[in-house]
Amino acid sequence: MDIVLMGAPGAGKGTQASRLESVLGFKHISTGDVLRAEIASGSELGQQIAQVIDGGDLISDEMMVSILKNVVSGTDKSIIFDGFPRTVAQAEMLNKMLTQLGRKLGKAIEIALPEEEAVKRLSSRKQCKLPGGEVKQIGPDFTLADCQAQGGKIFTRPDDTPEHIRHRFAVYHQQTEPVIRFYRSTGLYAEVNGNAEPQQVFEELLAVLKK
Ligand code: AP5
Ligand code: MG
Repeated sequence: MDIVLMGAPGAGKGTQASRLESVLGFKHISTGDVLRAEIASGSELGQQIAQVIDGGDLISDEMMVSILKNVVSGTDKSIIFDGFPRTVAQAEMLNKMLTQLGRKLGKAIEIALPEEEAVKRLSSRKQCKLPGGEVKQIGPDFTLADCQAQGGKIFTRPDDTPEHIRHRFAVYHQQTEPVIRFYRSTGLYAEVNGNAEPQQVFEELLAVLKK
């Protein structure tokens, strides 16, 4: 059973999806991470993607789904989609893709968080680039001290500037909130409160998944 994890920028999708991956053995697919890995590879496609995502806009539905297909078809595990679908067209494409691959969506869970709290979190968020190139997010599960101990370099995501954060929220309200209404109408929708300690959010997610 696959899961969609939704929520505004900074709601905690990545933090919680990583935990679900390590505790329940899901495959965590963050489309933001997939796109940032393409940028880091230095490919021409990566350069095109950087121009779009560093400013906080969405890449096209067609490009996103074609990149994602390869990642999805490479795994037999249950998947947590983090940051996908982000438009109603992507939600419809996801249904089609899962059916073609003989997979099934079990839940679409929103991590709900007031915008001002999300903005606060994003404004202070830091990333760590490890010597091998792997990028980890600084947070409760990988601290600044862990980064330093492993010889990592601290940096800020290019789309975490105040101006780009504001733009990402505008894009979210306009293009991604309709996806929440889409899933509400399917019966797959559930909501957890993201305005709590990470462990509490995680436990609420586990309870939703058990239902
Ligand atoms: P993406 O990387 O998905 O960014 P996002 O949706 O803006 O979400 P974030 O990753 O910023 O936040 P998050 O919800 O994962 O929160 P996190 O756990 O990090 O996408 C980036 C870009 O790629 C998009 O803007 C778009 O351009 C493109 N893109 C991606 N998918 C696409 C698609 N499907 N179609 C088209 N384009 C696409 O937590 C945030 C911070 O809060 C961290 O510092 C964390 O440590 C902290 N934190 C987490 N939980 C808690 C808690 N409970 N209490 C206190 N602090 C917490
Ligand atoms: Mg994320």
